[in-house]
Amino acid sequence: MPTITMTINGDLRTLDVAGHRPLLDVLREDLGLTGTKECCAVGECGACTVVVDGMSVNSCLMLAVEADGARVTTVEGLARDGQPSALQDAFLEHGAVQCGFCIPGMIISAQQLLNANPAPTVEDVREALSGNLCRCAGYNRIIAAVLAAAHRAGGSPAGPPTDAEAPVRKAVVTGQVDQ
Ligand code: FES
Ligand code: FES
Repeated sequence: MPTITMTINGDLRTLDVAGHRPLLDVLREDLGLTGTKECCAVGECGACTVVVDGMSVNSCLMLAVEADGARVTTVEGLARDGQPSALQDAFLEHGAVQCGFCIPGMIISAQQLLNANPAPTVEDVREALSGNLCRCAGYNRIIAAVLAAAHRAGGSPAGPPTDAEAPVRKAVVTGQVDQ
């Protein structure tokens, strides 16, 4: 059985893993990092999104052995000293969590967006989260949370809102949501 070494959320871990096992299974079953969710298991929903060497990946589609030597960040790795990150706080404040199943993947994708673009527009957020599906259809609140986190960090959504975007903008500036 291959032995692999990964830096998981800043901790160096060495594991024996069968070559056929997805990274998702190793994270959840071997490392107890159950924040990362399995839903479709075929790369469609984004619930299993993690960051591997700076890139968002569907961990259900990546073999754990392919992550040998990599730096992996899961949703657990975004908190600091047990406290939610600013983005995680924004999800809570904006009521963006319904059943919660999609949320870890959403937060990982959103954090990747904010790392690359601190002042995203509504369309930027929609595009960045297009690979993450929410069965509860809570997209407006999720988008509002990401924009609020950007706004709070000093970035500001650019461009005038269209009618369709207005409710999201209103949620950002008032701290409330319309659904
Ligand atoms: S569980 Fe990996 S994309 Fe759906
Ligand atoms: S909050 Fe339920 S799937 Fe998104």
